[in-house]
Amino acid sequence: MAIISNFTASTLKDAGKSLISGNLVAFPTETVYGLGADAANKSAVAKLYQVKGRPADHPLIVHISSMANLDKWARDIPEYAIKLARTFWPGPMTLILPRTDLAKDFITGGQDNVGLRVPSHTVALALLKEFESQGGLGIVAPSANRFGKVSPTAADAVAEELSVYLSPSDLILDGGPCLVGVESTIINCTQDLPAILRPGAVTAEMIYRRLGIAVQLGIDEGNLKIKAPGLLQSHYAPLAKVFLSGDTQPGDGFIAHSSINTPAGAIRLASPKDNDEYAQILYESLRLADKKGLKRVFIIQPSNEGLGTAINDRLIKAAEKI
Ligand code: TXA
Ligand code: MG
Repeated sequence: MAIISNFTASTLKDAGKSLISGNLVAFPTETVYGLGADAANKSAVAKLYQVKGRPADHPLIVHISSMANLDKWARDIPEYAIKLARTFWPGPMTLILPRTDLAKDFITGGQDNVGLRVPSHTVALALLKEFESQGGLGIVAPSANRFGKVSPTAADAVAEELSVYLSPSDLILDGGPCLVGVESTIINCTQDLPAILRPGAVTAEMIYRRLGIAVQLGIDEGNLKIKAPGLLQSHYAPLAKVFLSGDTQPGDGFIAHSSINTPAGAIRLASPKDNDEYAQILYESLRLADKKGLKRVFIIQPSNEGLGTAINDRLIKAAEKI
């Protein structure tokens, strides 16, 4: 597995070619790093599941370079979904839509819908355009971490986590640290009204303000039929045990807004000044706790403003690990 950090037209062309040949290419997006495979190549996708250690019935997000390719993967697209795509793509938003025949069971986990996203990171977009110009139709890319673990927001974190599982012909594209830092907002667009299945940088408030569309938050019975495993169980978890309440003990890691003092004996891992920075550095800080061999990390949750809802969603899941 090679890591590439100097991009030229020819390195991106080679990365596109590598995907077409069935290899895996990890690449940066504005949210987190993804581990990419050709969405139409069954054996490449099987390898992706193996490297991630992910159960085969968990669906993958198909990444495309523009809305123009939406019809290839999705059908019966509601008007509100078109509005969402026009407003927030390219960007940190995934739409769940009824699938076409192109979206096979091996990427949807057997469900009749498919997740689609146009990322905004320049390297991700350039890779997608290159891949599509060589005949590719979409790149499936889960976060480039082992199943249930913390998503990587830098290329070295991808290498640390996956290098032993990747083959010599696989690639990691290093596009620097991710700007958003938490995964995309997932919106279920298979019902009359849209519903957020996973909060992210595109918030319900933004959607209401820009489009006047009221998006349901949380999960009702209809949405529960949709399988979004990141939603319900322990996930995003470091090796250290995460605590969101109680008292710190000496030697605990500590993450909180910069205005909050470090308790005596605790080890400060991050001091974000606002929710945007909190999201950006959260996963790297959890990785740092593991590198330091800490057993416990104590985290003061941010407010629910802006990215705060997404951060709190991930923190609650990280703390669910027993
Ligand atoms: O920001 C992101 O979305 C990143 C970057 C790389 O694009 N990707 C990402 O993928 O977070 P992943 O696979 O780690 O998380 C996607 C979540 C999973 O919980 C998956 O079950 C859910 O989205 N998902 C994917 N397709 C779905 C579908 N058709 N229906 C319901 N949930 C779906
Ligand atoms: Mg993930």
